[in-house]
Amino acid sequence: MDYNSIFEEIKREINLDVKHGKVADYIPELAHVDPNKFGISLKCMDGQSFSMGNADEKFSAQSITKVFSLALAMNHFGQKVWSRMDVEPSGTSFNSLVLLEYEQGIPRNPFINSGALVIADMLVEKLEDPKGEFLEFVRNITGSRDIDYNYKVANSERDHGFRNRAMANMLKSFGNIKSDVEDVLDFYFHQCSIEMSCKQLADAFMVFSNRGSKLGSKEKIITKQQSQRINALMLTCGFYDEAGEFAFRVGLPGKSGVGGGIVAVYPGEYSVAVWSPRLNKLGNSVLGMKTLELLTTKTGMVIF
Ligand code: DON
Repeated sequence: MDYNSIFEEIKREINLDVKHGKVADYIPELAHVDPNKFGISLKCMDGQSFSMGNADEKFSAQSITKVFSLALAMNHFGQKVWSRMDVEPSGTSFNSLVLLEYEQGIPRNPFINSGALVIADMLVEKLEDPKGEFLEFVRNITGSRDIDYNYKVANSERDHGFRNRAMANMLKSFGNIKSDVEDVLDFYFHQCSIEMSCKQLADAFMVFSNRGSKLGSKEKIITKQQSQRINALMLTCGFYDEAGEFAFRVGLPGKSGVGGGIVAVYPGEYSVAVWSPRLNKLGNSVLGMKTLELLTTKTGMVIF
């Protein structure tokens, strides 16, 4: 497949000058990003990689990191993860509190914030150095040491994370957070602040395209079945109340973040990451979604 010319066609069609959407500013430190950035990187199973635009520039991965924390938790806890949360789409926004009260502190899935906070709690309880080990895990699956937390972003979110703090306290009141609420939030805010480029994200997500193994090595990060389940969750829950729209228009499992990144995988074929900071009202990158829609339309390759 000639991905380079497909990228060129997409670039012409999406018209980068169209300025729909708005950069996330509920975390003040995120509002400084140049809204016109645009990058894409696609990594194939044969190791080839295709990139365009600002594909090597790092940005705030935010909720995309929820896929990494879930993988690390599944690695440590296996099936036990599912005794503390469900695997159903929520149909609500990423930071909604509504269902949590109705459903007695059991989050709908690991990708809405309440689910990610429970995953964070599991890691904080289990790991000796949770932030250090999480960062090592992300560096290892990416195959790059050049990945770090952005402490300014983490602190900015800590100072403005009122909903997440409310959510963590509600989870604690239902007994679904074991550790100290502030320790769990501290881990979660750092997790979200990790900065990666499209190229690095495409490398990292190869694990989910390659049935749980690092590409080109025998190292198993998670089992094949765990990788399949994570892909199922990305398809049904990766875009919150827009998961249906993404499955309908793009036809691949994926995960978005409020930094403007979207990663998607075609199991057994490729992983792809796009970055464009302007978000729609549901917190997903406008051009990111459009780009991936055009990619799967032009290649005719969707998982269905
Ligand atoms: O919890 C938050 O508000 C952020 N740190 C992560 C949110 C996010 O990326 C939601 N996804 N689109």
